[in-house]
Amino acid sequence: MTRRIPLIAGNWKMNGLKADSVDLARAVAAGAAEGRDLLVCPPAVLIPPVAEALDGSGVALGAQDCHFESGGAHTGDIAAAMLADAGCSHVILGHSERRADHGEGDDLVRAKTGAAHAAGLVAIVCVGETLQERDAGQTLERISAQLGGSLPEAVTSGNTVIAYEPVWAIGTGRTPTLEDVAEVHAHIRGRIAAKFGAGAGDGMRILYGGSMKPSNAAALLAIDGVDGGLIGGASLVAEDFLAIAASCP
Ligand code: PGA
Repeated sequence: MTRRIPLIAGNWKMNGLKADSVDLARAVAAGAAEGRDLLVCPPAVLIPPVAEALDGSGVALGAQDCHFESGGAHTGDIAAAMLADAGCSHVILGHSERRADHGEGDDLVRAKTGAAHAAGLVAIVCVGETLQERDAGQTLERISAQLGGSLPEAVTSGNTVIAYEPVWAIGTGRTPTLEDVAEVHAHIRGRIAAKFGAGAGDGMRILYGGSMKPSNAAALLAIDGVDGGLIGGASLVAEDFLAIAASCP
């Protein structure tokens, strides 16, 4: 079995101004340690100063979205190649807040994922059920549909990371049971293996996201098949983010 290096990714969402964000990035960089990969994803306009703050630290830089086209008349949008050019190695795609706020569907997420790959970025593709879907017993079905629709043919364990983020757990302080997380992660890995081959299934990093914090990180990160976290609120405080990273088994 492949040893998957844990990835602890901070999704800063629409938070921060330049000075504080540079301080946050420096503090994360100062706490980087062997044995796990750290990634921060600031708002687009803060990518250049954060890139400078992280330079040489080994902490990776990502964006929170990209357009599906490589360039052209798309006012307000950013192409994947521009992100790569600015120092990003990763991009979060299909986050539930973009699916909800911007009506992004699986087809669009698939096109964006293809664009990210074409620019040499690792796509962190987010999937997750709503509370209504969980209560209706439709979680695995929903995840299967999102994976089926959101991933292009060229997915490998090198160019894609999956983030399982139950919509109802994001920013709410609630998390699924450890058994539920284990079940969904095993399901995702099985789907990846079935569609992209055993190697992809074995090597793919599958993150958990949704109210991960220092007090619950060790238990979540110890689950077999959980290869790290996508962290929102707790990624805005360097010591919390680093405490989560230090909880990796
Ligand atoms: P949260 O957000 O950690 O604040 O719940 C996670 C995410 O949306 O990626």
